[in-house]
Amino acid sequence: MKPGQRPIGVFDSGVGGLTVLDAIMRQLPHEPTIYFGDTARVPYGSKSQAVVTRFSLEIAEFLMRQRVKMLVVACNTASAYALSALTDRLSIPVIGVIEPGVRAALTASRNRRIGVIGTEGTIRSGAYARAIQRLDGKARIFGQTCPLFVPLVEEGWIRHPVTLKIAGTYLRPLLRRRIDTLVLGCTHYPLLKGVLQEVTSSRGNGRGNTVALIDSAEETATVVSEVLDSLGLKRRAASPPERRYFVTDAPKKFIQFGLRFLRKRLTPVHLVDIGTWI
Ligand code: DGL
Repeated sequence: MKPGQRPIGVFDSGVGGLTVLDAIMRQLPHEPTIYFGDTARVPYGSKSQAVVTRFSLEIAEFLMRQRVKMLVVACNTASAYALSALTDRLSIPVIGVIEPGVRAALTASRNRRIGVIGTEGTIRSGAYARAIQRLDGKARIFGQTCPLFVPLVEEGWIRHPVTLKIAGTYLRPLLRRRIDTLVLGCTHYPLLKGVLQEVTSSRGNGRGNTVALIDSAEETATVVSEVLDSLGLKRRAASPPERRYFVTDAPKKFIQFGLRFLRKRLTPVHLVDIGTWI
């Protein structure tokens, strides 16, 4: 198979990375894709760097056997902890979600005061802060962990008053720092945009300034497109691309999530025991 015809591999700790896959499918409708959700071992957000890196390398090995032409690390925690290990080991381009989100944040921010929200692992890793400092030494970064957001999204409470209250509590310290840009540094957070917009709007924050929300899913899809272009790896074909899904547990739940949040029937979904591939 010619390199350009091969699929893009996208992986996440579970279902959240479907927000990134969805953006890739919209921006690159002719590209075949393979999505891997590690639903048996989710969440990654509370695990150590060593464990997240090991899981990520196992999944990358599985996807390499599927002959992917590029690896997209849709999970922010895996991008924060394992991107360099993946880049070192793999012979194909590896795209994480952190750098694209950071570039978009620096373009959007006027006062150079940027908030980042994410899992405990992502914030603790300091990966966003390092990436921002690398590109703009004058920018100030304020991080905030939001551990309740992932379960709230998975519960479907995306417009619930409880979620609004929790978002207000999490974001208050960042708003006090007068951020004008907020990076949604976790796969699930783009699904909370409505609530986050309400909390950060000038009416919501009581400070008269609005805050730009940066959705790394869209930005990552744009980078994927640019990299494929620059390497001449875009698929040239008019026929619909093949799409495949692999999960390590609960395929039915995965299908339900796709229907509920992306309004798409994600098939075929294969249940895989990652241990048998190593
Ligand atoms: N996918 C993870 C991330 O973007 C969130 C869920 C988890 O903790 O595994 O960081």
